[in-house]
Amino acid sequence: MSAQTPGDGFYSGYHHRPAAIEPNPLTQVGPGTAGGEYLRRYWHPIVLASEVKDLPKAIRILGEDLVIFRDRSGTIGLLHKHCIHRGASLEFGIPQDRGIMCCYHGWQFDTNGRILSVGAEPQTSRIPTNFGQGAYPVREAHGLIFAYMGPPELMPEFPLYDTFSHPDDNALHPIKMTIPCNWLQIVENACDPIHNAYLHAIVSGEQFSAAFKVLPALDFVETPLGFLSMATRHVKDKVYIRASDIILPNVAQFASGNNDASKECVNISCGLTRWVVPVDDHNSYYTGLTHYSERTDVWRRADPSELGVDRMGFIGQTADRPYEERQMEPGDYDALVSQGSIANHKSEHLGTTDRGIVMFRRMLGRAIEAVRIGEVPDLPRLYRDAPVRTYNHEVVLTLPSQSNITDMRTLADFGRRAAQVVIDTDALPPLERETAAADRIRQLLVNNLAG
Ligand code: FES
Ligand SMILES: [Fe+2]
Repeated sequence: MSAQTPGDGFYSGYHHRPAAIEPNPLTQVGPGTAGGEYLRRYWHPIVLASEVKDLPKAIRILGEDLVIFRDRSGTIGLLHKHCIHRGASLEFGIPQDRGIMCCYHGWQFDTNGRILSVGAEPQTSRIPTNFGQGAYPVREAHGLIFAYMGPPELMPEFPLYDTFSHPDDNALHPIKMTIPCNWLQIVENACDPIHNAYLHAIVSGEQFSAAFKVLPALDFVETPLGFLSMATRHVKDKVYIRASDIILPNVAQFASGNNDASKECVNISCGLTRWVVPVDDHNSYYTGLTHYSERTDVWRRADPSELGVDRMGFIGQTADRPYEERQMEPGDYDALVSQGSIANHKSEHLGTTDRGIVMFRRMLGRAIEAVRIGEVPDLPRLYRDAPVRTYNHEVVLTLPSQSNITDMRTLADFGRRAAQVVIDTDALPPLERETAAADRIRQLLVNNLAG
């Protein structure tokens, strides 16, 4: 047997060592970076409301050190952590009837950052009129506290998504995990539906249902908010579409993961809305609202009291399992963190199943550049006074016996046409939209794509 020699492509470690990591605008989140400036144009959930108790809480978001607190009137303040007097941390501050008092020399700041008192300084001091403590606006919704950290004059409307109130029995529960890696690779996890087949089914057993072991046809369909990351499968006598909303910059919505594709459904709703919020370049919060309703049985099976900080009710989202167990049955956390604290794009070898990753990076790059040159990012974000229409959907339908939807190409085509129906019906109220879309998607199936 002849030895393989260099040049055969074997034993190429010496020649193909990982490329050095270079600064990447897509992964930078700090103040003054192009990526960080772009991310600051959106509202982000920064903590669970339940985390803000009587004492102030130090947090780090987008590379900035901050303190969040409730004053004694219940108003939430989000201030720069270091007091503008001489830098003591306001995490040791004392919440007042209005605002917070710094522990060191008694300066007092309102929740909007206005200086209410300069302690022992003379009454005539001009410091309160000339300066203020850095502050950011916050909004509390559905058990999450959101902040806007961008230029105040460019603050967008606060977005509420249509999925929050549809279906009628939908109940929301907040969750938050800390993941020690860059935000982008966590977002990309949602743009990568093939990992659901491998990581969550073929490799790890049945983290999702057995139906996920079937390799899907993939597609990525643009929506007014970003795109749908789609997996369409032929499971026994059914066609099963799972289309996840990718909403720029850092929001995604997912259907339940335990659909076994045995029961027909056309759901334009979701089981989870999640935001990836950068702590800094190397750490992120995976923050979400789980949706409980009759139709999202993945969450219905879980106990809502088991959801919260570092508790999600789904395996493999934290480091809390023994290392060997994680090796034998890895989850998202293990895959994501093991990519490195910032995944090195220069060392990747992307293939056809990575089209969603490429699409997201392109959209993100364009949006960052638009902000850098002074434009508003060109993705529509919200609708004044109405919920933002979203596109997440899950379809299971029985294939007609004569159906030609069998190979990967026709499966992908069917998924794409169904997604277009979901996009085209977005002006309708949620329930009407679902009924109209279901009719049209069934018709597509009956017509065997003839229409
Ligand atoms: S450092 Fe805060 S009042 Fe002096
Ligand atoms: Fe996953």
